[in-house]
Amino acid sequence: MKNLLSIADLSRDEIITILDTAGELSRVTQGPVKKLPTLRGRTIVNLFFEDSTRTRLSFESAAKKLSADVINFSAKGSSVSKGESLKDTAQTLEAMGADLMVIRHPASGAAQLLASSGWIEAGVVNAGDGTHEHPTQALLDALTIRENFPEYGNDFTGLHVAIVGDILHSRVARSNVLLLKAMGAKVTLVAPPTLMPYGVGTWGVDTAYELDQIIEHCDVVMMLRVQSERMNGSFFPSEREYAREYGLNQERLYRMKSGSIIMHPGPMNRGLEISAEAADSTRSRVLSQVKNGVNVRMAVLYLLLGGSIAGDN
Ligand code: CP
Repeated sequence: MKNLLSIADLSRDEIITILDTAGELSRVTQGPVKKLPTLRGRTIVNLFFEDSTRTRLSFESAAKKLSADVINFSAKGSSVSKGESLKDTAQTLEAMGADLMVIRHPASGAAQLLASSGWIEAGVVNAGDGTHEHPTQALLDALTIRENFPEYGNDFTGLHVAIVGDILHSRVARSNVLLLKAMGAKVTLVAPPTLMPYGVGTWGVDTAYELDQIIEHCDVVMMLRVQSERMNGSFFPSEREYAREYGLNQERLYRMKSGSIIMHPGPMNRGLEISAEAADSTRSRVLSQVKNGVNVRMAVLYLLLGGSIAGDN
């Protein structure tokens, strides 16, 4: 495999291979040898046309732990402001030696375009394209779920995951639905009608319009950020009303099932989709997700660029 563009391109076995490799690389790099020589001499370009904290920095950290060279490109402050195209930008960075490009872009399909256009030889990883997909986020979420529910192993049948909030604009939700279904989980999408995507009935998941209906029954409550930057209209009457109806507040936190966990891809809007009490509670796995982000991205870089664990010993 040369590219990672969508969870839909991965078989269940390939998903499990990535999760297992992430676990193995995490164990190795937490030991006395913090850095593996696997990708020495390879160059990874972080090509970011949208802001990011977790994804960009974790790809950078992952690449460095595998001894790759990293070039960070951010559209802000670049010649994109002078009108330079995606094609010219990508070809310029490939001329600097890129073996793999990690792209985040506000346009859905941008990663697919870069991979299939023939503009570059380098492999492409989708780090979030518009409202379409964010495959490495879903992989790190699955790793976090697997760690927290070891009794399920690689078969999430019987595990109930609620994905709550701004489903309409969420690439995280789309990638997670594909991955969680592949692993056998029961998924319920919870959103106000205005933030539930058209055609969601074909996604093969349950839907609900009231968080209070299901909060007590879920093993995983995955809260989504309200993506105000993608909203060109009013999708709910007020932030106060959204927080009251769909926010994970203290009262709902107390009603959560024993052993259940809270996830959020970040960045969090505290006080809107999640209260400080919930975000900082013992159920919260937000920082485990960040840690697993580095591990999953190490695995993706390692597998795409053909590293070999055996060769490192
Ligand atoms: N979860 C996520 O994609 O976060 P960033 O936007 O900070 O990368």
